[in-house]
Amino acid sequence: MPDVNTPPATAHTMLSWFDDLLAWLPQSPLAPWAQHLPQQLQQILVDKQHGDVPRWLDALESLPAIDSVQADLTANDIALSSPSLSAQQAQQVEQGLRGLMPWRKGPFRFFDTHIDTEWRSDWKWQRVQPHIAPLKGRLVLDVGCGSGYHLWRMLGEGAQRVIGVDPSRLFLMQFQAYKKYLQTQQAEVPAHLLPLRMEDVPAKLKGFDTVFSMGVLYHRKSPIEHLQELKDALRPGGELVLETLVIDGPLGHCLMPEDRYAMMRNVWFIPSVETLLLWCRRVGLSNARLVDLNQTSLEEQRQTDWMRFNSLADFLDPNNPKLTAEGYPAPLRAVIVANA
Ligand SMILES: C[S@@+](CC[C@H](N)C(=O)[O-])C[C@H]1O[C@@H](n2cnc3c(N)ncnc32)[C@H](O)[C@@H]1O
Repeated sequence: MPDVNTPPATAHTMLSWFDDLLAWLPQSPLAPWAQHLPQQLQQILVDKQHGDVPRWLDALESLPAIDSVQADLTANDIALSSPSLSAQQAQQVEQGLRGLMPWRKGPFRFFDTHIDTEWRSDWKWQRVQPHIAPLKGRLVLDVGCGSGYHLWRMLGEGAQRVIGVDPSRLFLMQFQAYKKYLQTQQAEVPAHLLPLRMEDVPAKLKGFDTVFSMGVLYHRKSPIEHLQELKDALRPGGELVLETLVIDGPLGHCLMPEDRYAMMRNVWFIPSVETLLLWCRRVGLSNARLVDLNQTSLEEQRQTDWMRFNSLADFLDPNNPKLTAEGYPAPLRAVIVANA
């Protein structure tokens, strides 16, 4: 008889991904989290098993071991390469990664396989990176980190350790596929993606040097509480990097869609830049400033061979790309930088 207290093998595999983080946590600036995290992981990975997880784990495990892996975390496609890659291994890599579709955030190069993701997340990084405090030596949190593409770029900038939180289980698998190859190159890879929501991160950790929240604020029913959580995760003087949808308009202006926005169901508040800066000031962030404003283009978010569902072109008014399908202003994204 199997022991009912023993987690299934799939859950056991996933729990082991966090051993390195759990070993580091108690002596770190995030020590209060060490008491809660094992239980949180147990709840999410063991008690609430996701139906697709066994299939995704099979895909992950089918990725072949490869010798002499090199990673370029400063390249736009954060390329993995190996001089010893065989044609058969290249084919197995492609097949394993196809088992983790759809790929939304990237791009990635896994040896001979280029993953052309739905989003050119590298373009977002190019808009953000020049305006932020150098990440060298910093402890970083990326809230709503997606597949972890930006976590790897942050590590490439010299961050001491990067932690992402994102509830999507598929994004966790995609992150682990990349980490698996990086781990063959270096014993400790200080990058972790936790399948949690920001609301699960203990309040007032005040331990991170930099906190990113990109593409999350408009998904929150209470954006002010989100800003407060982000501020309270930072050490005094730490930096918040906030990227979110905005609309044209004066101070005080804010769009709340009647229902969907660009076909997305869970969009709550889209403020003007001046309103957003006021929200930042009201939660006690200092030096809040706009550093970038960008209209999302049909080249930045589109259907690809690695993400075959509808994308931005299908979410806009077919007769007027300046409007969403619902008649709202089309996606305009701001980057705000501020300090705790
Ligand atoms: C639009 S994507 C942005 C991904 C990435 N940060 C980027 O900018 O490309 C939003 C992400 O936030 C995650 N998310 C939504 N609500 C969240 C929450 N409460 N806490 C953490 N992540 C959340 C979603 O799963 C999704 O991956």
